[in-house]
Amino acid sequence: MSRFLFALFFAVVTCGAHAADTGKASAHKTPMGDPARGKEIATTVCAACHGADGNSTMALNPSLAGQGYDYLLKQMTNLKAAEGQPALRENAVMAGMIAPYDLGQMRDLAAYFASQTPKPGAATNEATIQMGQALYRRGDMKKGLPACASCHGPTGAGIPAQYPRISGQRTDYAEAQLKAFRDGTRANDAAKVMRTIALKMTDAEIRAVTDYMAGLH
Ligand code: HEC
Ligand code: HEC
Repeated sequence: MSRFLFALFFAVVTCGAHAADTGKASAHKTPMGDPARGKEIATTVCAACHGADGNSTMALNPSLAGQGYDYLLKQMTNLKAAEGQPALRENAVMAGMIAPYDLGQMRDLAAYFASQTPKPGAATNEATIQMGQALYRRGDMKKGLPACASCHGPTGAGIPAQYPRISGQRTDYAEAQLKAFRDGTRANDAAKVMRTIALKMTDAEIRAVTDYMAGLH
């Protein structure tokens, strides 16, 4: 299958499964939250771990600045445990942090962080840049590994509403997420898109591509 068809196939699959899967926090652009209202909570509560402007300075805490609105809202909804049900994306820290907020406030928070400017990062491992770039741009046909660029975009800016920004993301965080997809501890990706991809990756490939992505812009 050509890379384009592969991406298209996945896009259709994710689209269909997404709508059925996310319930209230559907992937629609509307209604948008109010970034000014979101700012109050973001700069007093979320800032400690994600940075006041959504640019994280801590290895395992993701940057949220400039991330897609729909993706942010989906993650907050997934991280929140609802009425006795475990959260779709399990993380003890975030479960506690997001618990007090209702859907309206999560929309405001998503609108605030989506409106912030992401700071560019940098790749740090010269030795693996080529490998990371090859995986990112072309994938590995032999293993059936699709190009990351086909969904996350050639510059890593993501493709709203479905595919998150990954350029400039903290390397350790991105690496941990790929490993969590691979071992199934993160299982909130519709149609197992990222779980299927991560299963085909070695530790060395994960490290190379996440380092490359940090410097991509
Ligand atoms: C005590 C630290 C801490 C605080 C405070 C915190 N977070 Fe987080 N947040 C995390 C960590 C750690 C993760 C990564 C979870 C994982 O590894 O799956 C995360 C993940 C997220 C994600 C998913 C990002 C992605 O790229 O998938 C969103 C969205 C988020 N937090 C929003 C918020 C919001 C909104 C607030 C404020 C109400 C907040 N966080 C407060 C630590 C924190
Ligand atoms: C077919 C589309 C597709 C392809 C190809 C793809 N991704 Fe993803 N990726 C997604 C989707 C969709 C999500 C969000 C899953 C969710 O809803 O939580 C995601 C999430 C991620 C995340 C987590 C982002 C965060 O903020 O937590 C990382 C890291 C990631 N992808 C890396 C990669 C890498 C590296 C590759 C290439 C080896 C790749 N992706 C290829 C669709 C794709």
